[in-house]
Amino acid sequence: MANFLEIKNISKFFTIGKGQVLALENIHFEMASGELICLLGPSGCGKTTLLRIIAGLEKQASGQILLHGKVITTTGPERGMIFQEPRLFPWLTLEENVGFGIKGRYEKKRLQRIVEELLEIVGLSNFAKAWPNQLSGGMAQRAAIARALAADPLILLLDEPFAALDAQTRTKLQTDFLNLWKSTHKTCIHVTHDIDEALILGQRIIVMESSPGRIREIISVPFPYPRCPDDPDFLALKKELRDSFISTM
Ligand SMILES: Nc1ncnc2c1ncn2[C@@H]1O[C@H](COP(=O)(O)OP(=O)(O)OP(=O)(O)O)[C@@H](O)[C@H]1O
Ligand SMILES: [Mg+2]
Repeated sequence: MANFLEIKNISKFFTIGKGQVLALENIHFEMASGELICLLGPSGCGKTTLLRIIAGLEKQASGQILLHGKVITTTGPERGMIFQEPRLFPWLTLEENVGFGIKGRYEKKRLQRIVEELLEIVGLSNFAKAWPNQLSGGMAQRAAIARALAADPLILLLDEPFAALDAQTRTKLQTDFLNLWKSTHKTCIHVTHDIDEALILGQRIIVMESSPGRIREIISVPFPYPRCPDDPDFLALKKELRDSFISTM
């Protein structure tokens, strides 16, 4: 079902001083349900702006976002966003953070069970009572993923969620994220400026360029999971992507 999510001719201006920045120009692509796409592009090419528009946090100047053929204009529980920084509430414990958005929806016992399940999924069962400042960066980002999953969204919008982590933690979270994606069948748009990450995660990679922010090319990654970064085919595609990426800057 290719028209699960349709991003149709999205353009976006920002006014800065007396001038205008064309942050996005005519962004157009479609996603099938359950697909995992990486959005790859240099700083300032409009990746965050595009995610925010899809999330309904920002209004486009022109174009439409359609979900199941229906136009989306605001935020909605079927779309969950995960930011580069975890944005946990420091005055709530981990379990309270994860359950925060769905608190009014279930009675206490059921809510507790859902939160327990989510903490289990992201490997934080032993930290339910921890405060955010007692977590490592990777753990905090896992918690942010659990919180986004709480509303059981169809679509996860991830804005460079692993960018601030050290290489080892990033690799671990990439693997865990792939397992999560496979078991939950969420449709994911994962923003990254890391070519390796895009190649490890994406079924397709949308390469963007800046000034104005637009799509340069869309690449289908032909390798099965788990991807092997030492594989000659992986390295060949990486080189191709790197050449394309460098010319976007
Ligand atoms: N709220 C805003 N007001 C004015 N201009 C903005 C605003 N948000 C983004 N922009 C501009 O839009 C363009 C795209 O910004 P955006 O943050 O979407 O890029 P990005 O690809 O996410 O970059 P990065 O990789 O650094 O996060 C930039 O030129 C930026 O200056
Ligand atoms: Mg950004």
